Amino acid sequence: MTASFSAPGKTILFGEHAVVYGWPALAAPLPQLRAYARIRRLNQPLTVVGSDIPPSVWHLQPRMPDSNDPIIRMVELTRRQLQLPQLKGEITLASDIPVARGLGSGAAVSAALGRAVAATAGAAITDRELNQLVFQVEKLHHGTPSGIDNTVVVFEQPVYFIKDRLPEFVAFASSLRLLLADTGIVALTREAVAQVKRLRQTRPKATGAKLRRIGEIVDEARACIAEGDMAQVGQLLTENHHILRALGVSSGDLDSLAQAALAGGAKGAKLSGGGRGGIIVALVDHVTEARVREMLLRAGAINVIAATVGGDVG
Ligand code: PMV
Repeated sequence: MTASFSAPGKTILFGEHAVVYGWPALAAPLPQLRAYARIRRLNQPLTVVGSDIPPSVWHLQPRMPDSNDPIIRMVELTRRQLQLPQLKGEITLASDIPVARGLGSGAAVSAALGRAVAATAGAAITDRELNQLVFQVEKLHHGTPSGIDNTVVVFEQPVYFIKDRLPEFVAFASSLRLLLADTGIVALTREAVAQVKRLRQTRPKATGAKLRRIGEIVDEARACIAEGDMAQVGQLLTENHHILRALGVSSGDLDSLAQAALAGGAKGAKLSGGGRGGIIVALVDHVTEARVREMLLRAGAINVIAATVGGDVG
């Protein structure tokens, strides 16, 4: 017998990095990009097989000591949380979310895996429980994550997020049509976060002002999305990108893609996620989308993914 579980990728619309210091951020799930965990009920100790995530096979012992491997950690955390007996069966992981591009791939794999582990033992895990466990695993990936990735990915809803507070799920009155353009550059969020931390130590006043402005942008953007003022949402995206660049977390490739999107008629563009590589998001509409896509590919994007977030999602 087989069963399949999944979780979406995510994109941070506004507020990354500042969110680490207590300012709000806005993020949304990307339901069309997903990680999957398929279970086979076999009478053998649990094996996890990754079809495209090396290393590709994990043999789970009855009780694993605290491992730094995110897959083993997620299985063990789930087992302990739900007080499951010895785990049996086989779980196959697959994902169509590009890895280390700020799209929430790690959190999505953990979330799908946690649901599958519970199911192998005939148990269910609540989203609240799962969110806490995925957050623990995110620490292995990122060091000191704010918790935004796991929250969006597990609850699969747009969120207005402030660290250490209960997440506020927001229904966007108007949908945002986005193009996500991939630089193809793998970047470590942990290093980008460390860069902002250093800047905060060496230039506390100027850096604090930049982070505060990002927080204000998030609140302004939330109001503009509610009013359907997409021109202003676009302006705020671009302003947010410029501040991230001033914080040292952009790159030549990200700046070129953001420029190309604007030149193609996008209402706004910014890097999304940790930065230094990964993706930019560009706000488009049905008139500008094809041209912006063409400009992004011409500027060197290795892939451009269209996504509609919020509102009447199609
Ligand atoms: O690179 P991502 O998508 O995991 O985004 C990280 C967002 C940061 O604000 C840079 C870090 C965090 O933990 O919130």
